Amino acid sequence: MSETKHTQFSAPPPLAALLNLHGKTALVTGGAQGIGAAIVDRLAEAGARVMLTDLDATHAAVWADHQRALGRDVTAMQSDVSTKGEATRVVAATVAQYGGLDILVNNAGIFPFSPMLDTDEALWDRVMAVNERATFFHAQAAARQMSAQGHGGVIVNVSSIDALHPTGNLVHYDTSKGGVGMMTRSMALELGHLAIRVNAVAPGSVQTPGAASAMTGLSAEQMAAVGTAFNARVPLGRAGHVDEIARVVLSSRRTWRPT
Ligand SMILES: NC(=O)c1ccc[n+]([C@@H]2O[C@H](COP(=O)([O-])OP(=O)(O)OC[C@H]3O[C@@H](n4cnc5c(N)ncnc54)[C@H](O)[C@@H]3O)[C@@H](O)[C@H]2O)c1
Repeated sequence: MSETKHTQFSAPPPLAALLNLHGKTALVTGGAQGIGAAIVDRLAEAGARVMLTDLDATHAAVWADHQRALGRDVTAMQSDVSTKGEATRVVAATVAQYGGLDILVNNAGIFPFSPMLDTDEALWDRVMAVNERATFFHAQAAARQMSAQGHGGVIVNVSSIDALHPTGNLVHYDTSKGGVGMMTRSMALELGHLAIRVNAVAPGSVQTPGAASAMTGLSAEQMAAVGTAFNARVPLGRAGHVDEIARVVLSSRRTWRPT
C-alpha cells in the first residue's frame, strides 16, 4: 500500500478493544442451548448486554440466570422466530430493555433429518420459516434499528456447511441454509453503506443437543452413515465444540470504520 493511501486510514483499534463489547447490545436468537448459548456466553463475557430469545422459555431463563450469576447483563425472552411480526417485537423489546441494538446473531435453526421422498409440505414450510424467513425478517428489523441509530452494526447469520455441500436426508435444510448464504451476501451489499456489516458463519458438525436429537427419524443404519460421512470430511477427525463457533462470532461482531 502506498504511503498516500495508508494515511487515509486511522490506526486500527488495539487487540484489547477488539475484545471489549462494553456499551454494545446484542440480540441472539435460539440462545438457550447449543451454539446459541455459547455465543451468548462469549458476547456477554466480552461485556455486551445480551437479549437471548428462544422458543424454549425454561432453558432460556436458566441460561440467562446463569449468565447474571456471573455478573453479566443477559435477559431471556420467549420467542418463536418463525411467527409473523416476531422480529419487530423482539427488536423493540431489546431497544426498550437496553436502549439500542448493535449486534444481531441469527442463530435459531432446525435440522430434522428427513429423506427427500418422505419430506412433506408441513416440514418443508417449517424449516424454511425458521431457518430462512426468520433470518431475513430479524435482519431487516435489526438493520432498520441500526440505520435509525446511525452508527452501524453487525449482523451474523449462522448458516451451515450444508449451505456448501449436502449431507444427505436434509434437502429442505440444505436449501434453507443455501438461501441464508446468498441472503447474507445480498444484505451485505445493501447495508454496507450504513456501516452495517453482514457475515455468515457456516459450522461443520458440532456437538449440540439439537444435533443429538435431529436424527431421531432415521434408522440406525442411516444415522451411522451420516456420522461416518461427516467424520470422513473433517481434517481434525472430530465434531466441533460450540465454543469454536462462538469465538468466530465474537471476532465478527465489531465494525471498524476507517476514517
Ligand atoms: N450442530 C451442528 O452440527 C450445526 C452445524 C451447522 C449449522 N448449525 C446451525 O447452528 C444453529 C444452532 O444449532 P444447534 O446445533 O445449536 O441447535 P440446538 O437445537 O442445540 O439449539 C437451537 C436452539 O434454537 C431454539 N429454537 C429452535 N427453533 C426455534 C424457533 N422457532 N424460535 C426460537 N428458537 C428456536 C431451540 O429451542 C434451541 O435452544 C442452527 O441454525 C443450525 O442450523 C448447527
